Amino acid sequence: MDGDGARLRSQLIEVVGPDHVLTDADVVAGYCVDWTGRYAGATPAVVRPGSTAEVAGVVDVCRAAGAAVVAQGGNTGLVGGGVPLAGEVVVSLRRLSALDPVDRRAGQVTAGAGVTIGAVQRAAAGAGWAYGVDFASRDSATIGGSVATNAGGTRVLRYGDTRAQLVGVEAVLGGGSVVSHLGGLVKDNTGYHLPSLLCGSEGTLGLVTAVRLRLVPPAGERVVALLAFDAVAAAVEAAGVLRRAVASLEAAELFLDDGLALVCEAVGLAPPFPATHRAYLLVEAAGRTSPLTELADAVGSLAAVADVAVAEDSLRRADLWRYRESHTEALATLGTPHKLDVALPFGALAAFLAAAPGVVAAVAPAARTWLFGHAGDGNVHVNVTGVGPDDAAVDDAVLALVVEMGGSISAEHGIGTAKKAWLAHARSPAEIAAFRAVKAALDPAGILNPNVLLPPGFE
Ligand code: MLT
Ligand code: ZN
Repeated sequence: MDGDGARLRSQLIEVVGPDHVLTDADVVAGYCVDWTGRYAGATPAVVRPGSTAEVAGVVDVCRAAGAAVVAQGGNTGLVGGGVPLAGEVVVSLRRLSALDPVDRRAGQVTAGAGVTIGAVQRAAAGAGWAYGVDFASRDSATIGGSVATNAGGTRVLRYGDTRAQLVGVEAVLGGGSVVSHLGGLVKDNTGYHLPSLLCGSEGTLGLVTAVRLRLVPPAGERVVALLAFDAVAAAVEAAGVLRRAVASLEAAELFLDDGLALVCEAVGLAPPFPATHRAYLLVEAAGRTSPLTELADAVGSLAAVADVAVAEDSLRRADLWRYRESHTEALATLGTPHKLDVALPFGALAAFLAAAPGVVAAVAPAARTWLFGHAGDGNVHVNVTGVGPDDAAVDDAVLALVVEMGGSISAEHGIGTAKKAWLAHARSPAEIAAFRAVKAALDPAGILNPNVLLPPGFE
């Protein structure tokens, strides 16, 4: 470490203590590479503040030293937004793990940035409530990271994304000030809504240290059904019908025959049906009383269903979910996929699913395209295997198709490093100029995650 680096390190130690400034190469290695292995960098130090005041102290030290920082929670991000790709100081917020008792009457809870999604879900359940956000990495992903990326997941069609759960936020802005508004008022029109602004800002405006979350009524009764279809368009159509017909619908998830075969092989599951089918829709309905009749009536009205498996008890429900949730893990066995996380207008979803593999094949004939995702809200995960990590041709081809069809180049994972070159295709120059103005106001020294989200050339 050079003189500047050593000075920075000793100033950080003054703020958080020697045990929480990590520099040993073996220890910091896990903070420097993302979950997929696609994004890897290096850092002069990993700092682990234990309070909001310490986070503010760390930001002050880094700002004074002109050192860029990247905030990190559970490091489950998928777009290279939470690892030090340009030598940033890593500020790990996992020690901010205080979880207040659930406010049962309000149906809210205040959680530190380092609390996992799973811990919030369990605390809510223990108090007779539920948390409306869920996704497969629930026991590693943190609330802070889920707010920074506005995480979506499998329940968005019923409860909305992470932003829709936020009733308050505490954060350290780039200028070092602490903004804290955690009172939990549901109606509060007193100026700009900072939770909305910080949510999805990918660590570029402030470091979220705590949040106030709304909870949702728990559903005592749940039914999961796996529906098989012999055409992808029929599965998409069915998702639309079920959204309208089943008021208790919580999830409508799509996967295809090749993804199912890979999951069964990689994770060691028996196929769900005796015959294979082209497309599958995993649906979950939940309510105070059993949604079985409502779901069965709606499924019965669908002409195209080729086979059905229904689960009411929790073990069997989890078994059916594994066919969908194991896709990410199964794909990782094939190497490092390109992960394109896109959303389409519902009317264009089937056409996109039909066109995407051809668009990939045209630029990368040896590649394989895997399609799955959250059909209920138009979010498709296009994973492409068999292409080098830096080969952007596939990403360009798929994202161009998405833009042409009126979709979003990032439905839930964020822009990160992976898609920042693409932001200008998705947002107008005026919008990007407004983003930059907000960034300059809240992070005047430009030290917070300066290498993600905003493309160069709009200064
Ligand atoms: C999922 O919904 O399973 C993940 O967000 C998708 C992915 O790993 O690409
Ligand atoms: Zn997803």
